[in-house]
Amino acid sequence: MSSDSTATSTITKRPRRLRRTETLRRMVRETSLTVDDLIYPMFVMEGEQQKVEIASMPGCYRFTLDLLLNEITEVYKLGIGAIALFPVIAESKKDDTGSESYNALGLVQQTVKAIKQAVPDIVVITDVALDPFTTHGHDGIVNENGVILNDPTVEVLVKMALSQAEAGSDMVAPSDMMDGRVGAIRKALDEAGYIDTRILAYSAKYASAYYGPFRDALSSAPKFGDKKTYQMDAANAKEAIKEVALDIAEGADIVMVKPALAYLDIIRQVKDYTNIPVAAYNVSGEYAMIKAAAQNGWIDEKKVILETLLSIKRAGADLILTYFAKEVALMLHK
Ligand code: PBG
Repeated sequence: MSSDSTATSTITKRPRRLRRTETLRRMVRETSLTVDDLIYPMFVMEGEQQKVEIASMPGCYRFTLDLLLNEITEVYKLGIGAIALFPVIAESKKDDTGSESYNALGLVQQTVKAIKQAVPDIVVITDVALDPFTTHGHDGIVNENGVILNDPTVEVLVKMALSQAEAGSDMVAPSDMMDGRVGAIRKALDEAGYIDTRILAYSAKYASAYYGPFRDALSSAPKFGDKKTYQMDAANAKEAIKEVALDIAEGADIVMVKPALAYLDIIRQVKDYTNIPVAAYNVSGEYAMIKAAAQNGWIDEKKVILETLLSIKRAGADLILTYFAKEVALMLHK
């Protein structure tokens, strides 16, 4: 006789047996989240001794290089193995073609060199896209009719990736969505002897409203139009596989889906399609929503963060770029 008096003899399967204690639950847990899964996106700006909070991303800052190095030293000690670097470029250095992006003495190049000296083991991932560097805020070169030109943009992206590799970047991450850029970058890196510089390809990157807070952080919102002629249409899943297949054929070491939460199905499909590592970007708008609800006392922030990141792992991501990385590392240490 069961001790549960409501049980009937017709119940033979009792999944709840394995949920009775935390130890049992840990035994049968299918998915885990560890600090090894996390990549921390960080913002660098020019100047000294400054740390400015991003209004729409509470808890995230733009750091000047000196303070960024302290922060990176701290997060590395917490076990975070990789950071993704994004620069805030002074308006005076922006132009139509984003030429500051391949300045050997530019902000990104100097920052990479300094990080690799201060914390040599941390994996530095650099963003390859023109939007932080262009006056118009698009990820590519624009013609007089407002059309984003693919092949001339790829030429600049190649220069940018090479100058990042020269500065010591461990992994270049094209986030622009121009056609053919992964292959062009791979070829140029190999020819210049950077055979070990890896490529993290933003392969299935959607034209998403969830990027809003990030564009605030970089002051990089497009001055006209939108990014729908290069970033993907939210309705398309098969196309994500097409993009992933191309990037793998062109030499990507890791492929990425972005954003993460509204695209968990895409993460799963990409994971099932390929055996190379899959990353997902838990983007700025996803971060901002959780922060806003938590600040209002409407949700339990820590639990929601862990549940959210676990869902991205469960969907199939091996790696997660997330602004929660430091908070999660602190939580997992306790
Ligand atoms: C641009 C870029 C964007 C993000 C990363 N790289 C924004 C965009 O495509 O407009 C967004 C990241 C985020 O929202 O957290 N190359």
